[in-house]
Amino acid sequence: MGLVDGKVALVTGAGSGIGRAAALVFAKEGAKVMVADMMVETGEETVKMIRESGGAASFVKADVSQESEVQTMVAKTVETYGRLDCAVNNAGIDGDSALTTECTKENWDRVIGINLTGVFLGLKYEIPQMQKQGGGAIVNIASTMGIVAHQNVPAYVASKHGVVGLTKSTALGYVTENIRVNAVCPGNTRTAILDHVMKEMPEIFETLMAATPIGRLAEPEEIANAIVWLCSDAASYTTGHAMVVDGCYSIQ
Ligand SMILES: NC(=O)c1ccc[n+]([C@@H]2O[C@H](COP(=O)([O-])OP(=O)(O)OC[C@H]3O[C@@H](n4cnc5c(N)ncnc54)[C@H](O)[C@@H]3O)[C@@H](O)[C@H]2O)c1
Repeated sequence: MGLVDGKVALVTGAGSGIGRAAALVFAKEGAKVMVADMMVETGEETVKMIRESGGAASFVKADVSQESEVQTMVAKTVETYGRLDCAVNNAGIDGDSALTTECTKENWDRVIGINLTGVFLGLKYEIPQMQKQGGGAIVNIASTMGIVAHQNVPAYVASKHGVVGLTKSTALGYVTENIRVNAVCPGNTRTAILDHVMKEMPEIFETLMAATPIGRLAEPEEIANAIVWLCSDAASYTTGHAMVVDGCYSIQ
């Protein structure tokens, strides 16, 4: 018996990294999965991986910063699988490295548009479907940068603090309707985003690693396990929580 047997899960940014790992764990734990990403090839690859291991999955192309695409993404999930029990608003980018005065308006708009507005749009269209069904569980992906800060990525830090606040506000708004809304705040995880940080912003990567007491990166599956647990009935009294999964990075 899987943790999310018979449930329908939607994961954005599921063509890579944490989103792909979450999609795979949802499938392994018994859910049917709608894989959403703006990249068709990698999204389809995730679907193939799930189907090859005996699970059920479909792909929908969606840019989470575009309202009409998010609306279609949720509608396609319901059209394909009949309902929406679990949603993971995961798609995100790191943006450019610069102090606040050097951060361009373009970088600010892009990072906030995907990381924060993208999560807001997800909630806006996922919740009404869950209300119709009588409940559901949502996990928004923030970051340790939603709890603490780094001076060189102000837009990213603002977007992730925003995701934590939005999660709490939304959790309160729907707590009596059997809809749970939590955030996961991953630490440094071995994915494409971190590869980019390592190559383009080595100074940030070095300070992050030096301050990670566990002494290694997280594997995407270690974050995915927390996401799927929060979406499962085992977490039925947990809502409005920002769960840090960071090897002690942010408690120092
Ligand atoms: N890797 C880390 O160390 C780390 C740490 C903390 C938080 N996070 C967060 O985890 C989430 C996933 O990141 P990851 O590390 O797996 O990165 P990743 O780059 O491996 O995956 C991100 C996925 O999101 C997709 N995506 C990007 N913009 C999109 C958009 N506008 N619409 C739809 N899809 C889009 C990409 O195509 C990609 O498949 C992000 O929100 C990120 O901020 C990552």
